Amino acid sequence: MKRLKHDDYLALRAGATVLEADSFGDKVLRLADGTMLKFFRRKRWLSSAVWYPYAQRFADNGEALHRLRIPAPVIIEVWRIPSIGRDSVHYHPLAGQTLREIIAEGVDPKAEQALKDAFTRFVIRLHDCGVYFRSLHLGNVVYTPDQEFGLIDIADARIGRRRLSRQLRARNLRRLLDSAGECDWVDFQSVVNGALQERPRSL
Ligand SMILES: Nc1ncnc2c1ncn2[C@@H]1O[C@H](COP(=O)(O)OP(=O)(O)O)[C@@H](O)[C@H]1O
Ligand SMILES: [Mg+2]
Repeated sequence: MKRLKHDDYLALRAGATVLEADSFGDKVLRLADGTMLKFFRRKRWLSSAVWYPYAQRFADNGEALHRLRIPAPVIIEVWRIPSIGRDSVHYHPLAGQTLREIIAEGVDPKAEQALKDAFTRFVIRLHDCGVYFRSLHLGNVVYTPDQEFGLIDIADARIGRRRLSRQLRARNLRRLLDSAGECDWVDFQSVVNGALQERPRSL
């Protein structure tokens, strides 16, 4: 991981917009040139982040997803920024909007069911490819102009070689199903079975 000097960091972020922040400071910036800078802090000292930093995992997962032909941010650089005690990943945003943004803007009901079915098929595809996306919720899935789904916020995804078991598929949906507004976006049974189930046609 390259080190970024404080002055260079300040130059990089000049004119940036803060997209996400918490009580510890900025979390995600949109830089003046439209690229994104996401920060990671080490939360605990005795953590696997010491030997495998989250910014690096983000970048490695991005490459692994590209190899699987799953849209994900294209990485520009991974930085350690000692002056602010953060690691960061600099990347191009994925073209498109998150599903959460699309829903907030309003989707017409016919298009909505088609999008939900396509999303369920996408989750099945992730699982078939061995991707366990821990942060699976609609704010971390982007719908691209090519009408594909892609993933952002990929630092804690696990990408293995084998397709996921039924148990893992079910477990991966827990967070999505627990959220009141988003639980009907995925068809649980189809995901666990690994195939989209035909819905009886309404009369
Ligand atoms: N197409 C996109 N590509 C990347 N980030 C996007 C995109 N669209 C919106 N974002 C926004 O970028 C920010 C960073 O996302 P994320 O990595 O999920 O941050 P967080 O850790 O705060 O959830 C969020 O505000 C997200 O909505
Ligand atoms: Mg997120």
